[in-house]
Amino acid sequence: NEICLAMGNKTERNEMSFSRTILITGGAGFIGSHVVRRFVRKYPSYLVVNADKLTYAGNLENLTDIADRENYRFEKTDITDKKSVSALFRKYPFDGIIHLAAESHVDRSIDNPDDFVMTNVAGTVNLLNAALSAWSGNTENRLFYHISTDEVYGSLEGGGAFTEQTPYDPKSPYSASKAGSDHFVRAYHNTYGLPVVISNCSNNYGPNQFPEKLIPLMINNIKNNKPLPVYGKGENVRDWLYVEDHAAAIDLIFHKGKPGETYNIGGGNEWKNIDLVKFLCRIMDRRLNREEGISEKLINFVKDRPGHDLRYAIDSSKIRNTLGWKPTVNFEEGLEKTVDWYLSNTQWLQNVISGEYVKYYEKMYRNR
Ligand code: NAD
Ligand code: DAU
Repeated sequence: NEICLAMGNKTERNEMSFSRTILITGGAGFIGSHVVRRFVRKYPSYLVVNADKLTYAGNLENLTDIADRENYRFEKTDITDKKSVSALFRKYPFDGIIHLAAESHVDRSIDNPDDFVMTNVAGTVNLLNAALSAWSGNTENRLFYHISTDEVYGSLEGGGAFTEQTPYDPKSPYSASKAGSDHFVRAYHNTYGLPVVISNCSNNYGPNQFPEKLIPLMINNIKNNKPLPVYGKGENVRDWLYVEDHAAAIDLIFHKGKPGETYNIGGGNEWKNIDLVKFLCRIMDRRLNREEGISEKLINFVKDRPGHDLRYAIDSSKIRNTLGWKPTVNFEEGLEKTVDWYLSNTQWLQNVISGEYVKYYEKMYRNR
């Protein structure tokens, strides 16, 4: 079975010789690239197929270190295009799907909700239909795993934390589209018996995150001595988790999670935005050999995000108690690793902040 085909620089092993064939959607994005890398390295007997449209957020540079592995394939696919999705499922005998492809930025969803409905809702339904049809009559050892967000639960205005039983109350077009996709995933389990699992995670940070999101945007601006746009009074609270801890949770849920179940994932690491930005400024001052306190002077309070959720906090006791997961990277260590990654991957950063990013930044921050 070990028939090998020479494909350019890469030797491709015969597709039938793998023990499993896993589809990872959105694998060229931030979290997806960490999940793809983990699966390709850790499970050489799995064929890992990364299907991604390569939107502004998708970047194959995130995966150059594993691109030549014989158990990895990339398929440029738009999940909103039914024909492409069907062709993908005809080409590979998928037995597991980890679905991360999405429009993921809240500010963009406020500016233009349509793409979020198309990709996050309609794209997810296309994948559900393709899985249902491919697995008809045989759902044993099959799993459709949908990666979702804590934002579906809405905003915590006081204390407490989101549990898996918290009613959905999405507030932004982004979270509404993710809630819609979660509902479809559960409906396919309930109606058609599709084996599904969902996880809802808190804010991720780490290498390869597109610099439209808070932490890499601030790192880039501090580095370039640009104003640091803190929305409102900076009082909003987020629960931060290092991206590789999320990838480890995804690995565990994919292999040990119970079909039909939902798992909340969180860092137990709540920070007010303003405190986080100040903390980051101190790390950057040290790394850039700047006088202590100098970067903080760049903080600029700007017009708030419309409908800005005040606080997210995750109760992750279910995954901790039933699957034995816990975060391993403490926040200071994780932030320092992240800062070091951005400071040493200048070409990566330069490539993503040229062109479109300049227009995006100008449009989003001009009137704040
Ligand atoms: P990202 O924006 O960095 O990456 C999204 C990826 O999806 C990109 O590679 C993009 O090219 C791809 N994509 C977008 N539209 C597509 C389409 N129509 N067809 C195929 N591919 C398409 O996002 P991320 O931050 O890595 O988030 C990944 C997933 O995790 C999303 O589903 C998001 O909702 C969820 N999530 C993110 C966080 C977070 O803090 N970033 C937290 C919880 C859950
Ligand atoms: O909670 C999980 C979610 O976390 C994911 O589902 C989303 O995909 C991801 O984008 C993230 O959403 P947030 O809106 O929380 O992340 P963002 O990095 O955009 O913003 C974090 C906080 O920082 C939020 O309160 C808004 C604030 N902020 C953000 C930006 C970009 C600022 O104050 N200034 C900024 O310039």
